[in-house]
Amino acid sequence: MDHGDGPIHGKDMSNLPVLENAEIAWKDGQIIYIGQMNEQKIDAKEVIDCQGKLVTPGLVDPHTHVVFGGSREHEVSLKLQGASYLEILEMGGGIHSTVSQTKLASHDDLKKKTIHHLNRMLSFGVTTVEAKSGYGLDEETELKQLRVAKELQAEHDIDLVSTFLGAHAVPKEYKGNEEAFLEKMLSLLDVIKEEELAEFVDVFAETGVFSVEQSREFLLKAKEQGFNVKIHADEIDPLGGTEMAAEIGAISADHLCGASEQGVEMLGKSNTIGVILPGTTFYLNKPEFAPARAMIEHNVAVSLATDFNPGSCPTENLQLIMTIAMLKLKMTPEEIWNAVTINSSYAINRGDQAGKLKIGRRADVVIWNVPNYTYVPYHFGVNHVESVFKNGKLVV
Ligand code: NIG
Ligand code: FE
Repeated sequence: MDHGDGPIHGKDMSNLPVLENAEIAWKDGQIIYIGQMNEQKIDAKEVIDCQGKLVTPGLVDPHTHVVFGGSREHEVSLKLQGASYLEILEMGGGIHSTVSQTKLASHDDLKKKTIHHLNRMLSFGVTTVEAKSGYGLDEETELKQLRVAKELQAEHDIDLVSTFLGAHAVPKEYKGNEEAFLEKMLSLLDVIKEEELAEFVDVFAETGVFSVEQSREFLLKAKEQGFNVKIHADEIDPLGGTEMAAEIGAISADHLCGASEQGVEMLGKSNTIGVILPGTTFYLNKPEFAPARAMIEHNVAVSLATDFNPGSCPTENLQLIMTIAMLKLKMTPEEIWNAVTINSSYAINRGDQAGKLKIGRRADVVIWNVPNYTYVPYHFGVNHVESVFKNGKLVV
């Protein structure tokens, strides 16, 4: 079995394995050859000429909130008047607004809407996506979101990996009684496990949401029940979620805009992947992006994701995130490509399946209408994908 070779840490992220004049072949959805052109005689039923083009593994987006009801464009004017993300949340808007809209949506409507977003992701070259719940904050709606994701994992071409984010915000009636709410969310883990609805448990550790201590306790209990854990850490205020993620052995620590130097060092010494979401920092109009250079300097395995959601980052376009990473995180094209493929796959425990073109792996392959890999983040705001193959089947 292919266990993958591990994520790529720190300075090694500058090495991007690239083959010129290459050939790739697959059969029954599985890669059977990759190497130089004409090195091996391949008797193919169909041949695609990719001369002058780029061929890569399908991109992996390891942090999204893709299953949600409604939208939040009504909050744009508040934003423009200067209300911050956390102020809008405090007023009962933000995540709470999407919670109300998600509660109202039927299972079928939610599914239809999610398909629309997943189709768009696929069109941008993304073949594996993590999907979080967190817009229910009650049993019925959290499970509705997770069941929609599970059905789509079976039915949609994209591979979906689910995360339970019941600890995404504090419902009004639990303000001041956060521990009781977290206990209530923990009580859903039995059914989540029984129905195989999620692999990961996540929490939003933030001012006005859950403290780092509350988050640690919550995640440790989830770990005891056999779940891998993730954390929205130091997204807006620097609270120390990064350190906590490394300490408890989270599979990933996500956002990290306010990560301290000590947090970055600890992350570099741990197996926790650092998932940066620079589209969110851009869309929240924040001056401080995550310290990607320091992270790479300290040997962190850095991954990039969209954070696609209706509030802090309404875009499915991971190519745009690659451009923001280049300009605002000062990541090189080589680091960026490693981040959106191999490292992203490890951030969701798919290192043995996704993010790499390798004999024996399934053929998740993207053909790009660009002359080289630097061109994708360089020419921004458009879609460079020519075609997408999932398990060897043409899907875009
Ligand atoms: O990653 N910060 C918490 N969760 C999302 C935003 C969700 C929303 O605003 O609807 C994030 O930024
Ligand atoms: Fe998020």
